[in-house]
Amino acid sequence: MKKVLIARPLPDVVVVEARKYFDVTVRSETSPLSMSEMQTALGAFDGIMPTLGDMFQPAVFDSLSESKCSILANFGVGYNHIDVDAALQRGITVSNTPGAVTDATADIAMTLMLMSARRAGEGERLIRSGEWEGWHPTQMLGLHLSGKSVGIVGMGRIGQAIAQRCHYGFGMKVGYVSRSPKTLPFEAAAFGSLIELAPAVDVVVLAVPGGAETHHLVNADVLNVMQPHSHLVNISRGNVVDEGALIAALQADQIGGAGLDVYEFEPTVPQALRDLENVVILPHLGTAALEVRAEMGLMAVTNLKAHLVDGLLAPNKV
Ligand code: 8YV
Repeated sequence: MKKVLIARPLPDVVVVEARKYFDVTVRSETSPLSMSEMQTALGAFDGIMPTLGDMFQPAVFDSLSESKCSILANFGVGYNHIDVDAALQRGITVSNTPGAVTDATADIAMTLMLMSARRAGEGERLIRSGEWEGWHPTQMLGLHLSGKSVGIVGMGRIGQAIAQRCHYGFGMKVGYVSRSPKTLPFEAAAFGSLIELAPAVDVVVLAVPGGAETHHLVNADVLNVMQPHSHLVNISRGNVVDEGALIAALQADQIGGAGLDVYEFEPTVPQALRDLENVVILPHLGTAALEVRAEMGLMAVTNLKAHLVDGLLAPNKV
């Protein structure tokens, strides 16, 4: 049997399925693979199931004499931690798990939109502090989200799922920027650029892939043109936002607030960000549901099986 390394503990159903086809090693640590672990694994396993934080960058491959590994079947849709060109140059296929993450990630985007707009995190902290003095008509007024406008940056599967939720669920007007025009079953306005979209909407939601192309896509210039009551939500990758610029904008109350599930240098989250009341900060919960993580893992196993057992192209080769 081919040898496969699963780089983190996963739901049992995934490991049981993988063991039908492979000699499986499941790494017990929940931390990212180190450089030496990655290099050792590339020489010892036919396939690896890496995930967020496993930085398969060129240096990992450069010093590799011989790679036994021929597929990195990423657990997750985002694979900006893997240099795909460097992998391909060593004959290593990269696959991911699109689709499995869509609804759960879109749901977290809605969670952050609502929590940020209606100040739910702030309100929860007030009660936990023991200092709530009771309701009054002008207490903790937030942004009423229903019927407002949302600007979605990136209209792939996740962006479109967010747009559907906003339109059908909250009667929101949808605007978006995307690399290609989209045909949607409801009215949505395509904008030419983020700098045009940002001032036109009440909530900006980031749903683009991570990577060099989207690094600091949201910077001080974009934050400066957002409306003072507008909110920024990021469920993509942390480095899509210039975190320093966002902290400065939030400290100055330049925008209405932010809702974040990802961070530029996660798991490090700056104290200055953690000190702010006008930001909701979640620990990358995008797909944190057992059935979703199981589906992602089973999709990664399917990619491994196609490549290593069936001699086929992995269905989700990137
Ligand atoms: C994953 C994500 O659960 O799928 C992705 O890219 O960001 C997630 O929400 C996690 O990051 C593992 O990849």
